[in-house]
Order: sequence, then C-alpha cells, then structure tokens
Amino acid sequence: MCGFMIIHRLFDLAKPLIFKLDSEKAHDAVIKHLNFSSRFFPKYQLNSGFNKNGFSVPSRLGLAAGFDKNAKAIEGLFNCGFGFVEIGTVTPKPQQGNSKPRLFRLAQDEAIINRMGFNNDGALTISDRLRKIRSSGQNGIIGVNVGANKETENKIADYALCASSFLDTASYFTINISSPNTTGLRDLQTAQALNQLLSEFLTVAHKNKPIPVFLKISPDQHEYNLEEIIDCVNSFPISGIITTNTTTRRENLVSSYSCEAGGLSGKPLLIASNDVLIKTKKLLKPEKILIGVGGISSAEDVLEKIALGADIIQIYTGFIYQGLRLIEQINRELNKRTFENI
Ligand code: FNR
Repeated sequence: MCGFMIIHRLFDLAKPLIFKLDSEKAHDAVIKHLNFSSRFFPKYQLNSGFNKNGFSVPSRLGLAAGFDKNAKAIEGLFNCGFGFVEIGTVTPKPQQGNSKPRLFRLAQDEAIINRMGFNNDGALTISDRLRKIRSSGQNGIIGVNVGANKETENKIADYALCASSFLDTASYFTINISSPNTTGLRDLQTAQALNQLLSEFLTVAHKNKPIPVFLKISPDQHEYNLEEIIDCVNSFPISGIITTNTTTRRENLVSSYSCEAGGLSGKPLLIASNDVLIKTKKLLKPEKILIGVGGISSAEDVLEKIALGADIIQIYTGFIYQGLRLIEQINRELNKRTFENI
C-alpha cells in the first residue's frame, strides 16, 4: 500500500509537467521510459481472471489499442497492472499517419480527441519486435489490433495480410473497422463487406491453431447497422466484440479543442459507449465474449459496464488522466468480487 502511495504522489508531482508538454511528445516520452521506470512500481495482485471458450486473461482489466501502437512498452504496461495489453493498430506497411498536431487533450472534459491516422512501424517490424519480446520470456496476453493502410485500394485484404505476420506471437486479434481517421474504414461495417472480411481473415487467423478474434465497433452506429454487424459476428466462429472505439459526435464539451476533427475518447464517451454495449449484449450469442471500453474514469464505471454485460474491460484515456491510481483502484475493486466465470 505504501509503495502505491509513493507512486501516486510521484504521478501527482509529474503530471503538471507532463501536461505542459505537447501531448504527442509527452506520450512518446512515456512510451520510451516506461519499461525502465516501471521496474520500481509495486507489484499487483491480479485475482479477477476470466476464461471462456479458449480465451483467458489473468485480470479483467486491459489496456485498449492505440497507446502502445508499436509494442515498445509491453513490459512496462504489464508492470502497471494490466491483465492484458492490446498493441496497434498495426497496418501491413509502415505509415506516418496524419500531419501534426493530431492529438488534443481536453483536460476540463477529461477527454482526448485524436486523428492520428494509424501511424505505426508496420507489420514486419512490429512482429519482429514482438517475437523478441516473446523469446525474452514474456508470455502475457498481448492482443494485436489490425487495420488497413490509408493508400490501399483493397482494404479488406490488408487485415489478413497483417495477421499473417503475427500468427506465432499474438494472443488474440482485434479487427478494427471502427477508427474514424482512415477514410473508408467504417464502410467495412456493412454486412456485405464484413462477411467477406471475416471469412478471409479467419482463413489466415485460424490456419494453424484457432487464435481468438474480436471485432471492434464504433459507438456511432445506426441501430439497424448494429444488428447487421452482430448477425454477422454470430454467424462466424469469432470470439466476440469490443464496444467501442472513439466517437465523432461532440456533445456538451467545454474544452477549447472540442471542435478539432477526429475521434473523441474519455469521460464524455461513456454514455454512448454503454448504449452500444447494452444493445450488443441483447443481440450477441451468449457464448461470445464482450469487451467493454469507452469512457471509464472510475472503478464504478467498470462495475457498471460489467453489470451491463461486459465480460472484461479496457481503458485508455482514464489512464492518461489518472495514471496508476485508476488501475490500482479498478484492480482492487475487481479483486474484491467473485465472478461466476473464472
Ligand atoms: C485510440 N483508440 C484506438 N483504437 C483502435 O482500435 N486503434 C487505434 O489505433 C487507436 N488509437 C487511439 C489513439 C488515441 C490517442 C486514443 C485516445 C484512442 C481508441 C481506444 O482504443 C479506445 O477504444 C477509446 O479511446 C475509448 O476508450 P477510452 O479512451 O474512453 O478509455
């Protein structure tokens, strides 16, 4: 407990300095130093494990995609107390992403707007990096979130191509068709495109052994489209759904960057994200797994998502604003509870 208090105090002291930096520079600095500095973090007890249909995690709290796009801080993130870490979005070829500035802190709203545009080192480099991490003995649950390159004409083919580089290292795959920052990506959420995508993807992802596959969806669905998506997921042998990605909607924001284009995450996303979670839970076959993400800024938010039907949870923006304190609180609350499915 004392160790946690020291770390939280250090975070409180460092936060104003970090938040003075340009947000992307601050992020890059954290990624660069986390593996080393996290060696001094107190160790977490992870007792809220989950296991269903061949997919298991040691704690129900994971890190959402986009934080460690290039798998450079995996060790550090596990030391932070996450039970699973999702890297990416990874695209087949490396790409720079959109021009800067493209990442905005909306501090008064405890939110972020990003239009990064899948900046990443590409599947070959990142899979090599992950292979080295695995051979150093890291056997934690590492999900690989995959997407399409901006310039690719056949976006559907990019997903399977990307997955083929990670068959020996990924604990699971996430198909990201819901980022708002790549033109045409969200069009893959139509039934016809999705059927083709899932069928091509599974041919690769289940080639040697059935690696679990999740589909990550947007909070901006029209209801009829959500039904189509879930029908599709129900008809393929994929593990489940991640609800949700960021939203393009802007409601009740007070921060000065609120009109920037891109995807909004953090506190103001909670209601819309939970709304999709509720609808998804109703329609999804019970054997599928539902990962809840979007707007979590307290342990209560986590318990609410679980009560609404999420099996496990991911966070991103709350971690930026509250650091390890939020992870510790969530793990502590999860550890107190006994879940039916362990
Ligand atoms: C993201 N997110 C994201 N999701 C994804 O599937 N691929 C990605 O590359 C990214 N990139 C990304 C960058 C930044 C800066 C942010 C803030 C978010 C979305 C993320 O994984 C998550 O779904 C949302 O942020 C909602 O959760 P929070 O942040 O409200 O906890």
